[in-house]
Amino acid sequence: LEAQLRVDPGFTVGPVRKELFGSFVEHLGRCVYGGIYEPGHPAADGDGFRTDVMDLVGELGVSDIRYPGGNFVSGYRWEDGIGAPGQRPRRLDLAWHSLETNEFGLDEFARWARRTRTDPVMAVNLGTRGAQEALDLLEYCNVSSGTRLSDQRRSNGAEAPYRIRTWCLGNEMDGPWQIGHRPPQEYGALAARTARAMRMIDPDLRLVVCGSSNSAMATFGTWESAVLAEAYDAVDAVSAHQYYAMEGGDLASFLASGVDMDRMIERLVAVIDAAGVARGSRRRLDIAFDEWNVWYQDRAESRVPEGDDWPVAPRLLEDRYTVADAVVVGDLLITLLRHADRVASANLAQLVNVIAPIVAEPGGPAWRQTIFHPFAATSRAARGEVLRTVVRVPTIPTPRYGDVPAVDAVATWEEKTGALAVLLVNRSVDDEASVRVGLNAFGDRMPTAVSAVSVGGRDLDRTASADADTGRPWANRSAQADGEGVAVALPPASWSLVE
Ligand code: AHR
Repeated sequence: LEAQLRVDPGFTVGPVRKELFGSFVEHLGRCVYGGIYEPGHPAADGDGFRTDVMDLVGELGVSDIRYPGGNFVSGYRWEDGIGAPGQRPRRLDLAWHSLETNEFGLDEFARWARRTRTDPVMAVNLGTRGAQEALDLLEYCNVSSGTRLSDQRRSNGAEAPYRIRTWCLGNEMDGPWQIGHRPPQEYGALAARTARAMRMIDPDLRLVVCGSSNSAMATFGTWESAVLAEAYDAVDAVSAHQYYAMEGGDLASFLASGVDMDRMIERLVAVIDAAGVARGSRRRLDIAFDEWNVWYQDRAESRVPEGDDWPVAPRLLEDRYTVADAVVVGDLLITLLRHADRVASANLAQLVNVIAPIVAEPGGPAWRQTIFHPFAATSRAARGEVLRTVVRVPTIPTPRYGDVPAVDAVATWEEKTGALAVLLVNRSVDDEASVRVGLNAFGDRMPTAVSAVSVGGRDLDRTASADADTGRPWANRSAQADGEGVAVALPPASWSLVE
C-alpha cells in the first residue's frame, strides 16, 4: 500500500486552537467522586483533590473542561453545590440513578481547574430550569462584586470572579432520555431568550446551543435547522456529540470512524450555514464538538442502577480501552484538526474513570489508558496553523462506510519555531503503508531532522492497567528525511506522529 502526501505551508486551514484539546468532567459514576476528588487518598491535597490525577491531567495536555454534565446537568441545582460542605443537600440524580452528595460543587471545580491550569466551560440546566437560574449562575461566576450572588461567591472564598467564557445552553435536548427534552422550536426559543439575557450581563460570552446527540438521531439536521430558526442570532456555536465503538468484530469499519466524523462535520456545517443564509445573516457559527470518544454503550459497565438502588458514585461507564481504540482516537483527532476552520472547540468525553483516558483506583494508583497517548502526543505537537494536506492513496472496503481512504493525515506548522507535525493513520487491517510526505513547498524552511512515533500496529486488543502502560507510542525508526520530504512506513492499523 503506497500513499503520497503534499504539505504546503501556504495552504492554511486555521489556527490550532488550544480549545480543540478540551475534556469533560460530569457528576457521573466515579468521574468526580473517586476520580478528581478523593479526600483521604494518600495523594489528595488539602481540598481532597488527587494530585496524582492532576499530574496526569497536565501530561494529557487538556485545555478546557466542560462541567458539570452531560445528562446530569438537566436536573441539577447548582446552588446545592456551594456553601458549607456539611450543609449541602443530598439529592437524587435522575440521569444516572445515583445519589448526589453535593460535597463537590462549583467552587471546588473552579479551584481544581485553576490548579490544573485548565479553563472551565460551564453548562446550564435548561431541562428543569430556565433563564433566571442561568443568570443567577452567571452572576455568581462572572460578576466581580457588589451583588447578592457575586458577594456570596466572595464569602465562599473566591474573591476574584471566575470569568468563564464558554457556556453550554443545556445538554442533548433532542434526546428523549434527557430531562426536559422538548421539541426543537421550544428548546430553540428557550435557548435564545436565555442567551440574550446572559449577554446583558456579559456580552463577550461564547454561547453553545444544543445540536443533535449523535448523527444517527432521526432528527439529525432537522433538529439543528429548527433550533437555529429561533436561536441563530443569539448563539456562537452549535454542539456536536459522537461516540464510536467496534461492532460485531468489524475492525475495518471501526478503524474508519474518522471518515464518519468527517462526513458528520461537513453535513453539520452545511445545515448551520443554510440556517444563516435563510435569515440573511452574515454571522458564521462554529461547531463545539463537546463530546467525542470511543464508548461501548452496550456493555454492562454502561447499565445504570435501577429501583431502590441509588448508589453514591457507582462504577459506571468504566470502559477499558484497547490499542485499536487508541488508533481510532488518534484518527478522530486528525479529523477534528482538519476542520479547525469550523470546529472551534472539542471535548474528549470524559476525563477520569468514566469513558476516560485516566483511571483512578480508590486508595490506589492513577494510570493512563491506551487512548491517553494519541491525545497527549497530538496536544503537545500540534502547534501554529493547521495545513490543508492532500493525500493520494488507494481506498479500502469497509462493511459500514463503503470504500474509504486507507491512509489519512493532517499537518500543523508553526512558522516561528519551524515545528512541523504530520499526524497519520493507516486504517488497513492487513497492509503496511509506505508513505511519502512531499515537503518541497517549504523551500529553504524544509525541516531537516525527523522523528516519528506510532501507536498500534500490533497487540490491537490489549488494554492497559496500573502495571502495564499498554499503547504507549513506540519509536518508528522507518522515518527518513531526504531533502525533498520524509518517507515513513506505517504498520497496519496504526496511528503515527511524524515531527
Ligand atoms: O458522556 C456520557 C453521556 O453521554 C453524557 O452525559 C451525555 O451528554 C451523553 O449522552
